[in-house]
Amino acid sequence: VMLLPGPTPAKAFAQYAGLTGTTPLPPRFSLGYHQCRWNYNDEGDVRYVHGQFEALDIPYDVLWLDIEHTDGKRYFTWDSFKFPKPHEMQQELAATGRKMVTIVDPHIKKDPNYEVYHEAHSKALFIQKPDGSELDGWCWSGSSAYLDFTSGHVRDWWASRFAYDVYEGSTETLYTWNDMNEPSVFNGPEVSMDKDAKSLAGVEHREWHNLYGMYMHQATAMGLLRRNAAQDKRPFVLSRSFHAGSQRWGAIWTGDNACRWDHMEASLPMLLSLGLCGITFSGADVGGFLGKGGGYDDPDAELFTQWFQVGSYQPFFRGHAHHDSTRREPWTWDEATTHRLRRIAMRRYQLLSYWYTLFFVSESTGLPTMRPLWVSYPHETRTFDNDKQFMAGGDLMVAPVHQKGSTSQSVFFPGTAPWYDVLDGASFDGGTEATVDAPLD
Ligand code: NOJ
Repeated sequence: VMLLPGPTPAKAFAQYAGLTGTTPLPPRFSLGYHQCRWNYNDEGDVRYVHGQFEALDIPYDVLWLDIEHTDGKRYFTWDSFKFPKPHEMQQELAATGRKMVTIVDPHIKKDPNYEVYHEAHSKALFIQKPDGSELDGWCWSGSSAYLDFTSGHVRDWWASRFAYDVYEGSTETLYTWNDMNEPSVFNGPEVSMDKDAKSLAGVEHREWHNLYGMYMHQATAMGLLRRNAAQDKRPFVLSRSFHAGSQRWGAIWTGDNACRWDHMEASLPMLLSLGLCGITFSGADVGGFLGKGGGYDDPDAELFTQWFQVGSYQPFFRGHAHHDSTRREPWTWDEATTHRLRRIAMRRYQLLSYWYTLFFVSESTGLPTMRPLWVSYPHETRTFDNDKQFMAGGDLMVAPVHQKGSTSQSVFFPGTAPWYDVLDGASFDGGTEATVDAPLD
């Protein structure tokens, strides 16, 4: 048990950062808008989506490829029919300054002809059953083995897989997404590994379960650093699983939410809590991951617009969708909605230097970028249970609309100084609560 004596919130954050570390300044592009979907189907689809952002003048920085881009869920490979020219595809995006992210999961398909499996198997880098044989688990790639990321030796080997000549089809503008790293084992207890599975050091899974994702995140970030001889390019890695200290390796997202108003609302306390725990580069799937197919409705223009707005003021801003949901890139509703979404994205970019500065401050002080109101107003008791509003840094307060059909919003203005609406300059006295107009715009 560690006691963080504070006494101020800022001091408590610095003390916690002293124990677990801070987030190194992320590459600037990663603070822009990310467009993801399970899946962008092929190179033509990538070209179309990218082209639409360009043609409609909607700013974005990164296009993401989910598991279907691989050859049968063999990570570090490409489906040669759908993605025959990964180099050219990335170069096309890079020509306008855009990046790409591909997914790389920890379950490795047990296929002796798959080079990654073959090498890891022959070097005995996988988690074992209690009898010392290679563990077998079911995940996206079918029967799979799981690398032992708790081993420094395995992390080194994994990092070497990201070298440009080893990860074929990768370029300097390709970054990484680590998913299913709890680790997810579809046929295992609680959808994870048997508790008596063993690491190479002979330690049971029950001991290191919560660390597995962080070690994978670390190994991937090391790989992206090492692939450039000068190691002067900052990595970007998104992970689903995390632990205290994961903030040192990159970004986190909150996993599979659904297209529901209450899931959008829940993203606030979730992301605020992550920030309090040092994990400040975090976001929730904008729009809600599960729509049709997941048993939910796909987001209508109103929900998507509200979610896009709130996401645009959160540290990691990525739209993502399940493969059974209808397409929902920013132009898939009516023209008025496209126009609104463009304006929202542009506002994010207007504030990009502000976000970049917040991350710089966070790296050096441990202060989260997205904060509960009480961090700035620790003497105002009315802020203590307010998780409907939040601060982006110390200067911007965000009060999202959480209810379908609302065009006004009750907002609490903490402190004694007046507050100004960034859009129309209207002022509100500190220490008051007011109902403000909140039309969709
Ligand atoms: C689960 C992840 O949470 C989701 O974001 C992803 O699209 C699917 N796995 C498929 O990779």
